[in-house]
Amino acid sequence: MLVLGIETSCDDTSVALLEDGRRILANRTASQVDLHALTGGVVPEVAARHHVEQIIALVEYVVRECALRLHQIDLIAVTNRPGLVGSLMVGVSTAKALGWMIQRPVIPVHHLMGHMAAARLADPSLEYPYICLVVSGGHTELHHVLSPIHGHVLGRTRDDAAGEAFDKAARMLGLGYPGGPLIDRAARDGRANAFALPRAWLEEGSLDFSFSGVKTALWRRLQSGEPVTVADAAAVFQEAIVDVLSVRLLDASARTGVARVAICGGVAANSALKARIQEMATARGVHAVAPPLSLCTDNAAMIAAAGWEQYQAGAVGSLSFDVIASEALSWSG
Ligand code: KG4
Ligand code: ZN
Repeated sequence: MLVLGIETSCDDTSVALLEDGRRILANRTASQVDLHALTGGVVPEVAARHHVEQIIALVEYVVRECALRLHQIDLIAVTNRPGLVGSLMVGVSTAKALGWMIQRPVIPVHHLMGHMAAARLADPSLEYPYICLVVSGGHTELHHVLSPIHGHVLGRTRDDAAGEAFDKAARMLGLGYPGGPLIDRAARDGRANAFALPRAWLEEGSLDFSFSGVKTALWRRLQSGEPVTVADAAAVFQEAIVDVLSVRLLDASARTGVARVAICGGVAANSALKARIQEMATARGVHAVAPPLSLCTDNAAMIAAAGWEQYQAGAVGSLSFDVIASEALSWSG
């Protein structure tokens, strides 16, 4: 079954073609990062307009790259929630128009379901259940995943998402946008123990997160007048985030007795986070899956994979679903 995936929830226009929801034939993304770097963040209307410019060309490019024709597509999956409404509407309208034209089902996909499917794309041998840490620009959540559509939330952030914290810290350090990759790079030349930043472990037994305190603590340290290099500050800040994320993930694994963990979302591209989780998992005899960079940041392959799984599980295509700006991920049960 040939599945077309479309992702336009934020500032990346992405189109992918997958065979049976597992084999990636093409996964192409037109990034707007240079454009939004000029304003230090995503300007929603600018993002939406660029999706309008890119989307059809990208669909044509991907179909031609695979030496296929539009009518050979069997299923279309598109991100319809959560995200920037104007951006989502471009992808959803394109998916519906294509679905109507070729008379194929269109499956609306929750963006986080897509991120979670990336781990299964990266390692199809990953067995259920497993614990998944979803870390992106807008979300930081721990899920107990029982099947592609069943699971429950173990914890989530009470304030900032990890990616948001990276982006804000990078701005404080004058590193620019997007912050995560720039902090990752700067931290390689820094000392993670150059000074101390707090960790919010919250109350005993909690698997929630909080990153606003560490962000404020970094700001105070930078304002204190005590000399500090950008590399050291990046390394100390990254260590504070990586420490909490990795300890929580392995804690969740121990507490549930599930010896399989996965990470996904843009922040899962962080080299220190990947290394730490791998190291801790190996020491505890836990199987850890971290998707490659191309499947961590926003991409349409993960959306196609999630849409295909949902279709296999009985989801019915529709041409009348809406876009939704904000919706927490809710499992079937
Ligand atoms: O999943 P994603 O591409 O978009 C959302 O759904 O939000 O995640 C984007 C976030 C941004 O905050 C970005 O700074 C962060 O992922 N990010 C990173 C790295 N690469 C991207 N954070 C830390 N280290 C990285 N290498
Ligand atoms: Zn994302």
